[in-house]
Amino acid sequence: MASINVFLNLFIILIALSSSSVNAQGLKVGFYQKTCPQAEAIILKEMRRVISLAPTLGAPLLRLHFHDCFIRGCDASILLNSKNGTAEKDGIPNLSLRGYGVIDGIKTKLEKACPGVVSCADIIALVARDAVFLINGPFWPVLTGRRDGMVSNAIETIFGLPSPFANITQSKANFASKGLSAKDLVVLSGAHTIGTSHCPSFSLRLYNFTGKGDADPSLDRQYAARLRSKCKPNDITTLVEMDPGSFKTFDTSYYKLVAKRRGLFVSDEALLHDPETKAYVLRQAAGTSPEFFKDFGESMVKMGNIGVLTGKQGEIRKQCGFVN
Ligand code: HEM
Repeated sequence: MASINVFLNLFIILIALSSSSVNAQGLKVGFYQKTCPQAEAIILKEMRRVISLAPTLGAPLLRLHFHDCFIRGCDASILLNSKNGTAEKDGIPNLSLRGYGVIDGIKTKLEKACPGVVSCADIIALVARDAVFLINGPFWPVLTGRRDGMVSNAIETIFGLPSPFANITQSKANFASKGLSAKDLVVLSGAHTIGTSHCPSFSLRLYNFTGKGDADPSLDRQYAARLRSKCKPNDITTLVEMDPGSFKTFDTSYYKLVAKRRGLFVSDEALLHDPETKAYVLRQAAGTSPEFFKDFGESMVKMGNIGVLTGKQGEIRKQCGFVN
């Protein structure tokens, strides 16, 4: 483990030194190198502690970054609290998000080390990367320099986030509206190799798919039967592993499941309905992780660029749940 750490630190330093350039969105690797050099190490250390105590928190922390970026860009608007239930975190698709306490704990440590310097939006991006890396997934250099937004509306989550019942045309259109490609869609959907889902996100596929009391014919029959044994009609509390048997490990098994018609959501299965995304699923299902891992890092960097605030825009929040 020690040698991995030395290698990693060297890698981060090399990347930071070699890439002082700012990308088109105004972000760069190592943004805090002068203002808070220990920021990324503080986050990684805390994430090591969190994941060793609760490995299942990796999944919701990754999802938090996705849900933040897809609504108003990666500006930490997902973390804002409201008095009357009107913030993004109160939106229906976000009610199953978890991990806010981890972000707050890290923010407190960073405020002690470097007050008013590290944005909550960057913390979410770095936490998502570390969460994946610490459960055997890829490591990628996170571009930083995001600032925090001051607006958060629950209503925007209804139309901004992709639906688990979307067909491939709808999912591709949703991703395209954020500047992401069909390849990003199939690569980032690979995040469903970790984590759990509540029954309502897919139970329509089990009981009444066309309104005639039938199951979705595109779902493997044995798998549908197993899911029915877990999710009774109207069950809104049970959690199902999205990648049974390896839901705590980041690997390519999601693609193996989708290829076997065992993807949990309509939107997972829909990846087989487009030539490009289907070819990707089948290639990863047959292969090992290197291509997926490299692609995942690249698509996460693209996702992390969506609608970012930089320079004098927004602010650096003192507490992630509140505008200053
Ligand atoms: C077409 C795109 C996507 C759709 C429709 C979708 C939908 C969903 C749904 C419905 C859940 C289960 C929520 C629940 O019932 O508890 C879920 C879980 C999850 N999603 Fe996605 N998702 C998509 C893309 C992504 C992307 C891009 C990422 C990250 C890069 C991601 C990461 C996750 C993770 C890690 C979980 C498990 C969360 C947990 O264990 O708490 N998803 N997704």
